[in-house]
Formats: sequence, C-alpha cells, structure tokens
Amino acid sequence: MRLTVRRSASKGWKPNQVGWHLGRSRFPRGVDLWVPYDRTAGVFGAQGSGKTLDLLVPALLDHPGPAITTLTKLDDLLLSVGRRQRRGPVAVLDPFGQAPGLPALVWDPVAGCVDPAVAERRAKAFTAGTVSGAVSGGKADNAARFYAAESAKVLQGFFHAAALTGRSVEHVLSWVANPVAAEEPMEILRQHPASARFWDGLLAGALHGSPDTVGNTITTTQQAMSLFFQPAIRQRCVPSTRNPATDVRSLIENNGTIYLLGREDPYASASPLMTAVAEHVLDTALAMATASPYGRLAPSFLACLDELPSTTPLPTLRVRMANERALGLSFIYASQTWRQLVVSYGEDEARSLFGLTNVLVIFGGGKDYAFNREVSDLVGTTRISRQTLTDGPGGVGTSHAGEDVPVLRPEQIRTLPERQALVIAENAAPIVARLTRCIDGSSGQRLLSELGDARERVGQARRVQVDVAVETARALAYSREARLTPSVPAEPEPGTQALTDDPPTHQGWR
Ligand SMILES: Nc1ncnc2c1ncn2[C@@H]1O[C@H](COP(=O)(O)OP(=O)(O)O)[C@@H](O)[C@H]1O
Ligand SMILES: [Mg+2]
Repeated sequence: MRLTVRRSASKGWKPNQVGWHLGRSRFPRGVDLWVPYDRTAGVFGAQGSGKTLDLLVPALLDHPGPAITTLTKLDDLLLSVGRRQRRGPVAVLDPFGQAPGLPALVWDPVAGCVDPAVAERRAKAFTAGTVSGAVSGGKADNAARFYAAESAKVLQGFFHAAALTGRSVEHVLSWVANPVAAEEPMEILRQHPASARFWDGLLAGALHGSPDTVGNTITTTQQAMSLFFQPAIRQRCVPSTRNPATDVRSLIENNGTIYLLGREDPYASASPLMTAVAEHVLDTALAMATASPYGRLAPSFLACLDELPSTTPLPTLRVRMANERALGLSFIYASQTWRQLVVSYGEDEARSLFGLTNVLVIFGGGKDYAFNREVSDLVGTTRISRQTLTDGPGGVGTSHAGEDVPVLRPEQIRTLPERQALVIAENAAPIVARLTRCIDGSSGQRLLSELGDARERVGQARRVQVDVAVETARALAYSREARLTPSVPAEPEPGTQALTDDPPTHQGWR
C-alpha cells in the first residue's frame, strides 16, 4: 500500500512521533528502518556489542514522550539524563547511591497494598527479581521459581497487613527478619474486616511445613527485601518527611523519565526492588492510558528494559507486550544471551516472550551456537540452482539442480561486524542493518561532552557525602560511652608479633 501525505499535512511531522529509528538497511540496501511504537522489540547481543549505545539510548533520546529505562551502568544514565531533563522531569531510583545530585525516585512499597490485587502483584514482582540472582542455570532455576512463588505468599500477606493497619516498610522488615515468629501479620489478616479472605491461611501454609522448604522460603523472602535492610538504601528510596514519595503519574504526564539504576553485584542485587518499581510505574501508565479519552497514551510511553534478565525480569512482560502496545505503551528489552532469559522466565515463558516480540535485533559475537542455529532457521533458506558440468567419455554435459541453503549460517550470525545487526521483523524478509552508535560523529562528540559534564556534577555531589572515616569515628565514640568496646585489648595470636603497642582498634581516637 502506498501512503500519500499531502505536503501541508506532513509539515512539521516527524517520524519519531510514531516510532524509533533502528538504523539503515545494508541488505537489502539503503532503506531507513523505523520501529513503530506499537511494535515490541527484543535485542540480543553479547556484552559490548552495542545494545545500549546503538539502540536503547538513541531510542530514548529521540523519544518525544515519557519513558522508563533500566540500566546497570552509571555512564549509560549520564549519557542521556541531560537531554531527557530538557524534555521533562527525571527521577532516578538509585539504591546504591551511584548518582548523587540527581533527583531521586522515592517509592513506598506498602502504598496501595490495601488492595489485595496490588499486594499480590507487588509481592510477585519483588520475588521474581530473586530468580536471576539466585541461580546460574540448570535444575536450580525451577527450584528458585518455586521458592519465589512461596515467598510471594508471605510477602503479599505482609504488605497487605501493613497497609491495612497504617504500618510502614519498617514494620514489614521486622516481620521479614523473622517471618515464623511474626504473629502480628497473621493476626491482622485473620481479624481485619477489609483483609483478603483466606490470606492468613496462605501465609501459614508458606511458613509451616518441612523445615527445608520453609527455610528456603524465608531465605528467598529476605533476599527479595534485602536492599531495604541497608539503612542508607532505605533512607534513599523509601519516603519520609524529608524525602516525600515521587509522583509517578505527574512524571508521566509531563513527559518525564524514570531511571532505574542497578549494578552487576553478586552480593546485593537491586533486581527485586527494580522489578517492583517497574511494575508500579507500568501499572500507573496503564491506568492513565485506559482512563484517557483517547483510550491510549499519546505520545506513547517507552519502556527501555536494558539487561532485562538481571535488572527487571517483569513477570507480566509477556502479557503487557501482548495487550498494552495498542494502548500507547511501547517495549524494547535487551538481553545478553537467550540462556539468561530462560533462567529468569523458564523455557516456556521465555519462548512465548521471544515468539511474541515483533522485532528481533540480533548482534554478532554471540557464542551460543544453539541460539544462532535457531535464528538461522528462523531466517530460513533460499533456493539456489547449481549447474554441474561433466566432461566424460560420452562428451560434455550440463545438469541443473536446485538446493536450499540457509540465508545466514549460524557462524555468519556470530561474525556480524560491529555496528551491524540482524533484524527479523514480523513477516518481513530478514534484514542486516547498519546502526548508528550514539557516541559516533560530531553529534556523538556533543553527547560525550554532556556525559563529561554530568560526570563532573555527580563527582562534586559525591564529594560532599559523609566520609566513612568520620562515620567510623562517630560509631566508636558512641561505643566507648556505652562500654561496647572490648574491655581487654586483643592479644596477638601465639606465634605472631604485635606490630604496635596499641591495639589497632584504639588508634586515633584515644
Ligand atoms: N564512553 C565511551 N567511549 C567510547 N566507547 C565506548 C564508550 N562507552 C561504551 N563504548 C564502547 O561501545 C561499545 C558498545 O557498548 P554498549 O552499547 O554499552 O554495549 P552493550 O550495551 O551491548 O553491552 C562497547 O564496545 C564499548 O566498549
Ligand atoms: Mg548495555
């Protein structure tokens, strides 16, 4: 179908109002590629292949409407935050305090949990985030998902009970610290007339039974809430009189950007908290879309879910991708490998997610042969004809034969060069696209200099933070007053030599 747009109608119209720029096709040659906002995209590529700089950051920078984006690297945030701030307000969920000086996203996990549906969704989001951090593959994946489900029963009960009685996340944490001994939530769920019926039973069921199962459930529950057990993280992310909760709805209304900044850390995964916040933001956007007189958000709301399995393995992603893209919520997710997606979602769900993704973008460099093979099969074959010349005793003869060969062999997918990717979009023929890295060229230089400025500002804000040496001195001063310091100086181990006459703990503050 050819669409003719009258000149007057097209004046002032920009393609970024309806889609994001993916790149330019190389095979077939020379066509600009745009992904409409009502199409979902999945990006696969090894670390450093260009997922963030070639696709997600450019899409975010160019997007005229509100957005949420997940990240694992501070630089990826600092690269785009200045420009997004010019478009609207920004809020950064920054549990680890990596980006001081930027407006913080403050959120109360208990808010809204009077509604059992909210409590359940929130608990499931928190516990879903434990799966990717807990295991590295194999059978353990299923066990991790089982305990995530068990632990969700506990957390949903706790959230609901806290919300019903005006308690805060601090109370929830006191229950999570020792769930079996926590009688209050059980009592509240049993007594409160507004509590969801039978939830006391669910809670009791998850916390009583074989000691091994209960033990694992408790561990998973604590893992889901582990970030909040860090006082500094709680202070940053949970509302207080000094730190009021962020108005997510107003951010979305004003074309704002919500950044969820995690980090690759085997000790403290931010994934449970980030997943729960992402669900809350997406639910808010969805409610706004359905309440809108147009029945959708316009301009659309873009969700750039970078490093999906390790940042925000949203349990609802498949359903959202199926239903919400028509309501003005647009999804781009990225994963390093197929395997990571399977660990987070399980084989069946990961497959459905993959199958439902409208536009697949696959970078070279992936070492997973089975995945490359599958993509090669997906791209399909082409029929070539062979002409064979024979020169025998009977004279020279030619024969013709048809043969099906893969359009792209698995190893050709692995060896796709940098700044290029294979694009498999709906029912279109496969395309090898040339991508634009956002830090290339003169516009890239400008972006990099903005990154430098943003780094400088964050660096300055970091310098005014309290020094750990000052905190240590303060803590020790209190301990001396309260007689919490060891009364007898530590003896050196037999056979070792004390380096100084003073025991080291007493140095500097005597
Ligand atoms: N500030 C920078 N300056 C120059 N090169 C960079 C910068 N940041 C990242 N790169 C390079 O760009 C490439 C793509 O990075 P990125 O998009 O972050 O990869 P991915 O998101 O797939 O892990 C990487 O090879 C990386 O080394
Ligand atoms: Mg990246």
